[in-house]
Amino acid sequence: MGDEKYLGPLVVEGKLVDAERLKKESNYLRGGIAEDLNDGLTGGFNGDNFLLIRFHGMYQQDDRDIRAERAEQKLDARHAMMLRCRLPGGIMTPTQWLAIDKFAADNTIYGSIRLTNRQTFQFHGILKGNVKPAHQMLHEVGLDALATANDVNRNVLSSSNPIESELHQEAYEWAKKLSEHLLPQTRAYAEIWLDQEKVATTDVEPILGETYLPRKFKTTVVVPPHNDVDLHANDMNFIAIAENSKLIGFNLLVGGGLSIDHGNKATYARTATEFGYLPLEKILDVAAAVVTTQRDWGNRTDRKNAKTKYTLERVGPDVFKAEVERRAGITFEPTRPYALTTRGERFGWVKGIDNKWHLTLFIENGRILDYPGRLLKTGLAEIAKIHQGDFRLTANQNLIVAGVPESEKENIEQLAVLHSLMENVSHQRENSMACVAFPTCPLAMAEAERFLPEFVTRVEGILTQHGVGDEHIVLRVTGCPNGCGRALLAEIGLVGKAPGRYNLHLGGNRIGTRIPRMYRENINEEQILATLDELIGRWSQEREVDEGFGDFTIRAGVVKPVLDPTRDFWE
Ligand code: HEM
Ligand code: SF4
Repeated sequence: MGDEKYLGPLVVEGKLVDAERLKKESNYLRGGIAEDLNDGLTGGFNGDNFLLIRFHGMYQQDDRDIRAERAEQKLDARHAMMLRCRLPGGIMTPTQWLAIDKFAADNTIYGSIRLTNRQTFQFHGILKGNVKPAHQMLHEVGLDALATANDVNRNVLSSSNPIESELHQEAYEWAKKLSEHLLPQTRAYAEIWLDQEKVATTDVEPILGETYLPRKFKTTVVVPPHNDVDLHANDMNFIAIAENSKLIGFNLLVGGGLSIDHGNKATYARTATEFGYLPLEKILDVAAAVVTTQRDWGNRTDRKNAKTKYTLERVGPDVFKAEVERRAGITFEPTRPYALTTRGERFGWVKGIDNKWHLTLFIENGRILDYPGRLLKTGLAEIAKIHQGDFRLTANQNLIVAGVPESEKENIEQLAVLHSLMENVSHQRENSMACVAFPTCPLAMAEAERFLPEFVTRVEGILTQHGVGDEHIVLRVTGCPNGCGRALLAEIGLVGKAPGRYNLHLGGNRIGTRIPRMYRENINEEQILATLDELIGRWSQEREVDEGFGDFTIRAGVVKPVLDPTRDFWE
């Protein structure tokens, strides 16, 4: 990020990608979705609608475990939708929980609820006929799936540690306001899914524009010292700054992002750049200014170069920042001091400043389902029936039963214990995460969610063998280089390459402020474990006091740190 770099043009000229045509012709995201819904001949959405439904929170998928078999039988793939809710800050009520619990059981192929690592939930396996009822069910309980995928500002995250301070509540309120401020204004969602009346098209999109953003866009609100939202994976991040425990403003960090493309050296993971401090009352203007600058300057000729991180590098962070200042009518003050010291959860009961109790539950892979002998889904529904507070989804795919009065604590705990929701797991397991990948994700190259549990067991074995069984290493697996599992902010990151094969990245840190470097390419599980065995052995012997594994791999020269990803990410 040095000065001598060539700074590219503000706007990239050239042939627009097809996604741009599609957005433009969609009449503000309507396309032919409504007509397609009534086409019972196919289980999927066709033509442009296949991509347009993403703006309405859905991906069309098929079960990849049975894809080949169906093709052999000359059958179409069994199409079904994944539907993702909008849930700023990850907070929902017990009534909402019970509604989604029932819907998953009655109307989805897999019967599960998947908590995602962006503080929301998604259903997998909704057949076309059940899509509209899904949106209507969400609407009835005050939720929606608007703008949770595709080229818009997606679900807004906020640090989820519950009612630990008034700051958390305020951060949540800002996450909600940001989400609403940046939502698409089109009435398409209400017309198509909620049967609301069509009004003569008067749609305008003052912030997103008629062709929306060049690429997905992600926002967080962070309450230091917790970096549980993993801010560096996101385009726009507001770090709460307090004075005498009162929120007074935010530091803004722009241009984080993890997605890469195997072997494409023009792609890289990047941490976000500090722009400076802004007072509270400017947050919505500044947010709109960042989004519109990216809207106007983002590269619409190449989707692999379209995210804010690339725009920032092309025009230069200072140029981007000056444009945001101009559009928002603000001059950023220097970044105020802040410290991030943790990223994980504090499992079990924590008492808040409001004297209520909050129970953080570990949910492996965020997958809520009744397993033989472990009725997680039933257990959470039973809790929802008596719970007087709310549920908070964390950015690590876990769940907080928040706001429990003293008088109810024992009842909730009994239900949690009865349904195996409070089982003891190792710190290693608590700090491990995977994306969905097979069987539903069409982009998966290797297993992730199904691979992780057993793999963690083997890593636990290695830690124990080296006498560090109580320690943990932030470990993440992502089924392809798109990076949904945030492996490129882990201490050990596995990025899927092909079935059973991964690239191994090392050198991230515990708090998520450093990108790990590729250490071995395209290796299998046995090779990964052998490498880890050697390195964890060294760490256990040679580490300094409290030195994390990632920091050790950098200090010991196992990997070099990524300093300027535009130059050295692939070195
Ligand atoms: C080019 C980039 C990306 C593409 C095309 C992409 C696409 C997808 C698809 C198709 C799914 C659905 C998988 C399923 O549920 O079956 C998914 C899930 C998800 N993605 Fe991405 N993704 C990208 C990058 C990212 C990144 C960088 C993040 C976050 C840092 C992210 C966060 C998520 C989350 C939270 C889920 C839900 C499942 C989970 O928690 O693992 N995605 N993505
Ligand atoms: S990282 Fe790849 S495999 Fe995993 S959910 Fe995202 S797109 Fe699918």
